[in-house]
Amino acid sequence: MRKLMEAAVKAMENAYVPYSKFKVGAAVLLKNGEIITGCNIENASYGLCNCGERTALFRTYALGYRKDDIVAMSVAGATDGPISPCGACRQVMAELCHLKTPVYLTNVKFDVLETTVEELLPYSFSGSDL
Ligand code: THU
Repeated sequence: MRKLMEAAVKAMENAYVPYSKFKVGAAVLLKNGEIITGCNIENASYGLCNCGERTALFRTYALGYRKDDIVAMSVAGATDGPISPCGACRQVMAELCHLKTPVYLTNVKFDVLETTVEELLPYSFSGSDL
């Protein structure tokens, strides 16, 4: 999991953050051993900013992988302690990962909080509620 967290920290380098200057990296580990990364990508129209977690998960799905292919995920930012994903990203994780998928929240010092999608978003809304 150290390798996964290192990939998340490395992905911060590609963040496009001219407005917040706050870089976020994320990495998704697949069953085939591949790691798909993502970073936050901002926009002058602030509401269009895309978080690192969502970039990584959308890339994963765009490549044809699905939740059964995902082993774990990591998110990294230059925070004092392990980064805390925003609510929108928690909802997207709940849709695109299994609820029991491990999530390794970290920072550039590799402080780590190991949690799960379900712990990040208990009682989540899902397609089964529709
Ligand atoms: N951000 C993420 O990429 N992930 C999160 O979970 C929290 C926030 C980004 C969005 C924006 O580009 C910057 O961090 C500041 O909010």
